[in-house]
Amino acid sequence: MSRPLTAPLAPFVDALPVPRRLVAAEHEGRLTVRMRPGTHRFHRDLPESTIWGYDGTVPGPTIEAERGQPVTVEWRNELDGPLPVVVTVAPHAADADGVSVQCVPGLSGGTADPNAPALAGHTVVHLHGGLTPAVYDGWAENLFAPGQAAVFRYPMDQRAALLWYHDHVMGVTKLDVYAGLAALWVVRDDRERDLGLPEGPPFEVPLLIQDRNFDLDEQGRLIGRLVHKTDPEVMEAFPPFTVVNGKVWPVLDVQPATYRLRAINGSNARTYRLVLLRDGAPDLERITQIGTDHGLVRTPAPVPADGLLLAPAERADLLVDFSDLAPGSELTVLNTAAAPFDGSRFPAADAESAADVEGLLPYPELLRFRVAGEAARRRSIPRELATDYEPPAARALAGARRRAIALVERELDDEPNMLTMRELAVAADGDEDGPLVTVTDGDETTRYRVVAAHFEDRTTFFPVLDEYEVWQLINLTDDTHPIHLHLDPFQILARHPISHEIPEGGVENRDLVATITLERDPNDALSHGIDDNERGLKDTIRVNPKEIVEIAVRFTTYSGRYMYHCHILEHEDRDMMRPFVTMPATLMPFMA
Ligand code: C2O
Ligand code: CU
Repeated sequence: MSRPLTAPLAPFVDALPVPRRLVAAEHEGRLTVRMRPGTHRFHRDLPESTIWGYDGTVPGPTIEAERGQPVTVEWRNELDGPLPVVVTVAPHAADADGVSVQCVPGLSGGTADPNAPALAGHTVVHLHGGLTPAVYDGWAENLFAPGQAAVFRYPMDQRAALLWYHDHVMGVTKLDVYAGLAALWVVRDDRERDLGLPEGPPFEVPLLIQDRNFDLDEQGRLIGRLVHKTDPEVMEAFPPFTVVNGKVWPVLDVQPATYRLRAINGSNARTYRLVLLRDGAPDLERITQIGTDHGLVRTPAPVPADGLLLAPAERADLLVDFSDLAPGSELTVLNTAAAPFDGSRFPAADAESAADVEGLLPYPELLRFRVAGEAARRRSIPRELATDYEPPAARALAGARRRAIALVERELDDEPNMLTMRELAVAADGDEDGPLVTVTDGDETTRYRVVAAHFEDRTTFFPVLDEYEVWQLINLTDDTHPIHLHLDPFQILARHPISHEIPEGGVENRDLVATITLERDPNDALSHGIDDNERGLKDTIRVNPKEIVEIAVRFTTYSGRYMYHCHILEHEDRDMMRPFVTMPATLMPFMA
């Protein structure tokens, strides 16, 4: 391992900001949000950065809505001027000292992509986790130019949960979100309120976790300008500075009391594994997870022993008990997940030595809590949380339609690799010729053909409303992909270890040849388990290397054209996204 880097910014000097709350009920459910340029200071010792933000801030305002009370937002695109991000591909993955270029500020010898400043600022807003009619869902190609506005109506007929809204423009979501177009959206309901959980400040604290990098001036001093840097070996940006609610490595003064932290990973590509440390030792028992992507889980769950994993777009609702701590106590949240994340373990006890320059994790620091004040207010944690959903019954799944999707990486000669998905359909009997994907489970082998590969290929998924389906996500790449479905949440059924082989040239522009066997690969060190906190209503699920993830999907609300995709934004922008169309059952007989 190369020598540790010295951080060019001091950790834990800026107070954790809490984004401004925009409570829909105080505006009769009618809001106007402007997307516009602004300035923002990411750290006390950094000059101001130019950003694009909702209402010109990073993060944008947290919208708070009540279940059953629709919210109408006029999204006004008032962006002007160039994209405030320098985009570059460094010529080498490591610098002259052997340090991975993504771990250091500046362009590392890369030239600034001339196409990026020319981006005029087209936008489209997606409410991630929203049960939203298709016309308001933010289809990636339905763009609004500067000067144009969209009025989107969100029915909010959905359970309490932490959602977020972010830009979703085809091809440049990674740049628009990185420039600052991301913010939180909280749905509340009475069922959750009856549990007496902290609501609002000071005991409920949202944590929007992102990573950012900055440019240098000629003297090598940090300037605030945002840099999106990749390298010839890693096509995702893994910037070195972790930013929570817009500040690099902030500190939060807490009372000795129970806090509700609502954490979300809003990074482009980085997965975090959060470990809480006190005096250098893990202190995870202090944390209880009560909710996931779509709100409360059925029963409180401990954090996994290695730490809490959050891939891009995943959320965790956490109760943290600081009530026994003396004033002056300090606790630190570190990230132990190297990048690109591949599911590998890292023991929480070693968190203090998690820095790993090759693993693009130069600074594991994330956030510090500092206990101040006397009065201890401990809350007891209800033993039963959600009662409004059940794991799907085997009966309901027995006849369910099954869909299979392979996640593949296609190597290209003069361009970054293409991360993409291949929708598979079972090959007809007698259909013998051409590239096949086979999946063998015991003595049964299923033969598949690729029926769609790219975003613009024809739609092949037409789920019928209210009917369960089982989707199999088959990871044939070496990295973990957080797969996100728009519209209704789903539940995980299983993670199956697999071994697979792809012959030389097996990943073509459209076709795929692969032999997949449901058995553990002898070189596979992953557990392929399901974390307790994944057994809730999810909209984003981690699919690790060498595994098939099975999810039970059921759309119940709206008919229309939606998207599913990897939430690593560099993958989503590079073709790891596909459409699906939800259909009312009564229309199916009329579909040609
Ligand atoms: Cu948060 Cu389609 O995404
Ligand atoms: Cu991906």
